[in-house]
Amino acid sequence: MKGIVLAGGNGTRLHPLTLGTSKQLLPVYNKPLIYYPISILMLAGIRDILVISSPSSLPMIRGLLSDGSQLGLNFSYRVQPTPRGIADAFLIGSDFIDGGPSALILGDNVFHGAGFPRLLRESVANVDGCTLFGYPVSDPERYGIGETDELGNLVSIEEKPLRPRSNNAITGLYMYDSEVVEIARSVTPSERGELEITDVNRAYLKQGRAKLVRLGRGFTWLDSGTHDSLLAAGQYVQVIEQRQGERVACLEEIAVRMGYISQESCARMAAEMRGSAYGRYLMEVAESLN
Ligand code: TTP
Repeated sequence: MKGIVLAGGNGTRLHPLTLGTSKQLLPVYNKPLIYYPISILMLAGIRDILVISSPSSLPMIRGLLSDGSQLGLNFSYRVQPTPRGIADAFLIGSDFIDGGPSALILGDNVFHGAGFPRLLRESVANVDGCTLFGYPVSDPERYGIGETDELGNLVSIEEKPLRPRSNNAITGLYMYDSEVVEIARSVTPSERGELEITDVNRAYLKQGRAKLVRLGRGFTWLDSGTHDSLLAAGQYVQVIEQRQGERVACLEEIAVRMGYISQESCARMAAEMRGSAYGRYLMEVAESLN
């Protein structure tokens, strides 16, 4: 399966933070926001990753991530000229996907939980139609909400419902079979002028081929689109890392533990960053694998 990180947008709710840089490069505690969605694709076993961003942000993101070989990954890059909607990722990425299944993750979504590696691998192995991931929220009227039957089949999607039928918010991680490009091509812009991912998901729902995996207790999904939620995400990561002594979304660590890079490569990158606590942690990881 191939992966797409959609990392454009205007980030208007974060102004003035995003006037001179990309939202996805802002810090969530000790690493750029985009590390978090990339970590999820890596844990899913996905190594071919397309990063889509705006004309001004793409060069900065490419400067950070380069071709991915340092992580045993293969990054490609494409511009989204304007934020035309989330489903636009499949039009921009059609040649990259090349007729196979794909996972899309939004560049500002932070997920964390010990259960992710297993859950993601199982989901990747079982995609038939589309698989969405639902997270229980206390304010469902602010989100796209998915209702399921007892087997986890999606039975309805409601956008910001006044009277929600469930509290499962549909998160920014989506997995699709090879038909997604065709379906995205058939979607027309909504009233707000965007190609809505909800319309793609509704098309799968109509075919009876949409699943929603519920991320229960033990999983965390955080927003980072506003000043308060960005700070809260950073504080969450800080608390977890300081308490547990382990890092969230440390890409080099994931790469070495998953066998994508050698222990020597990990140690080399750690040495380059030894001036930071992140680099020193990575050195400990590398030494523990000796
Ligand atoms: P949003 O939060 O909907 O938009 P935004 O990031 O531009 O922020 P704001 O609402 O404050 O203006 O986007 C969610 C994620 O998806 C974010 O990482 C940006 C990305 N995105 C794109 O890259 N292209 C798009 O066309 C859209 C709609 C979103």
